[in-house]
Amino acid sequence: MKFFRPIFAAALSLVPVLADDKPKLPEGPGKATTEKVCGSCHGVGIFVNRRESREGWNGIIEDMIHRGMKGEDEEFGEVSDYLTQFLSKSTPGGKVNVNQGSAKAMVSALGIPEADATAIVKYRVANGKFNSLEDVLKVPGINAAALEKQKEKIDY
Ligand code: HEC
Repeated sequence: MKFFRPIFAAALSLVPVLADDKPKLPEGPGKATTEKVCGSCHGVGIFVNRRESREGWNGIIEDMIHRGMKGEDEEFGEVSDYLTQFLSKSTPGGKVNVNQGSAKAMVSALGIPEADATAIVKYRVANGKFNSLEDVLKVPGINAAALEKQKEKIDY
């Protein structure tokens, strides 16, 4: 037992560090329901940086119902209200990782045209990871000015 105790203590001390790195939803009514309903298949990290209108969120909710999401209609309504209010297009902090994000996620976080987002995805498949804005600006046909304006929202 003596041997195990220090290891156990070390593992415990890591827990708060890991918890801090977890993506968190903004505080507000409906947060707990959203975590419960949306967090059972994937983490909330998949959508915490997404910004959508009511229509956009409702489309995603429908999509997730098709994928097997369970809940009461009342809960879906609460989730729709929460997402529309707290992760709206005007909520700051929407970020996207250009090495991992889908074209759709880039369109919604950066407000760039779908053609540009698709070109970014194609380019990274062919050429590997982006490390900086300069790398992203090498994508043929990309609107450099639009991307530069959004550079704070780009993660690598
Ligand atoms: C029954 C399981 C399940 C539940 C519950 C669920 N999802 Fe998903 N979701 C998936 C699957 C499967 C994918 C696609 C695979 C992946 O990317 O991990 C996905 C992908 C996503 C994506 C990425 C889609 C894209 O095109 O970029 C978003 C955003 C998302 N879910 C949001 C939500 C939200 C919001 C909720 C709650 C309303 C939710 N999910 C609940 C299964 C689920």
